Amino acid sequence: MKTKITELFGIEHPIIQGGMHHVGFAELAAAVSNAGGLGTITGLTQGTPEKLANEIARCKEMTDKPFAVNLTFLPSLTPPDYPGLIKEIIDAGVPVVETAGRNPAEYLPALKEAGIKVIHKCTSVRHSIKAQSIGCDAVSVDGFECGGHPGEDDIPNFILLPRAAEELEIPFVASGGMADGRSLVAAMALGAEGMNMGTRFIVTQDAPVHQNVKEAIVNATELDTRLIMRSLTNTERVLNNEAVERLMEKEKRLGDDLKFEDILDEVAGVYPKIMHEGTMEAGAWSCGMVAGLVNDIPTVQDLINNIMSQADEIIKSRLQNF
Ligand SMILES: Cc1cc2nc3c(=O)[nH]c(=O)nc-3n(C[C@H](O)[C@H](O)[C@H](O)COP(=O)(O)O)c2cc1C
Repeated sequence: MKTKITELFGIEHPIIQGGMHHVGFAELAAAVSNAGGLGTITGLTQGTPEKLANEIARCKEMTDKPFAVNLTFLPSLTPPDYPGLIKEIIDAGVPVVETAGRNPAEYLPALKEAGIKVIHKCTSVRHSIKAQSIGCDAVSVDGFECGGHPGEDDIPNFILLPRAAEELEIPFVASGGMADGRSLVAAMALGAEGMNMGTRFIVTQDAPVHQNVKEAIVNATELDTRLIMRSLTNTERVLNNEAVERLMEKEKRLGDDLKFEDILDEVAGVYPKIMHEGTMEAGAWSCGMVAGLVNDIPTVQDLINNIMSQADEIIKSRLQNF
C-alpha cells in the first residue's frame, strides 16, 4: 500500500509502532521495520546518550530497514540530556524521530538540518496545526482511546481524525484504538495516511516484555482501562489493577489537593518491575482501550501481514459489494 506516510518514511506498509517506555527496545523496533512497518526505539528508556547509541547500534544489527527513535519531552526537575540524545540519533543516521509531550520546536532545527523526518504525537487539532507550523513532517494524532497520555480534551478518533484532515496539509497517522485491518481502512477513510499502534504491538512474540504483561492485555476487555492523574493535568490511560485502585482512592480522597508526591508509590519507577519482572500489581502502566480487541500473541510479521491482507479484503470485497 502506497501512501504519503510510506513515501515519507521509505517503508512498505503504513503502520508505525509508537514509542513505549520499557517496551520499545531494539528487538521490537527491528521486528516492526523488518515486517515493512516503522519500528521505534524509546529514547528516554535508555537513560543516557551512550546507552541510546548502543541500542541504535543493536537495532541496526537486526535490521537494514528504516526505524525511528522516540523523544518524549516531559516537564522534569532534572531533564534528560536531550541535546546528547539528539547528537547520538544524528551521528547514527537514524532517519526518523517521533517526538511527543512538549512542543519540540527547540530541537527541530538540529533534527531537520541532519535531514531527519520528524513526526510529532498530538492529542488535539490545535497541537497538530502547531506541529505543522513549526516544520514537523507529519503528525501522529492520538485519540481519547489511546494507551498512555490522551491529553485533556477527550475527543475520540471518530471526531478527531476527520477534524485533523480538515485542518492539516502535512500527512498524519491515526493512533489510539488501532488493532487490525479494519482499523487501518477506517483510519484511511477518515483522512489518515496510515496508523500507529502501541498496545497491540506489546502483545506480540517479538515484544521484549514479560509474558504476564501480554497475558494481562489478552485477558482485559475494553472496559478495563482507567484514567489517572487528571487533577494533575497529566491524564494517563492505564490498565486497572490493585495499584491503580489505590491511586484512584487517593485521588478521590484528596481531590484538588492531590500532589504528585502522594502517588509516587503507584507511578514512580514501576515500569521495569512490570515490563521486565512481570510484577503486574507493582504500579500503573499505560494500556489502550484496544485491549478489548487483542486476543492473540502473534509474531510482528504475522500481525502486519494479517493487517494488510484484512485491509485488502475489506477494500476489495466488503466495500465494493455495497
Ligand atoms: C506501555 C505504553 C508505554 C508508552 N510509552 C510512551 C512513551 O514513552 N512516549 C510516547 O510518546 N508514547 C508512549 N506511549 C503511547 C504510544 O506510543 C501510542 O501513542 C499509543 O499506545 C497509541 O494508542 P494504543 O495503545 O491504543 O495503540 C505508550 C503506550 C503504552 C501502551
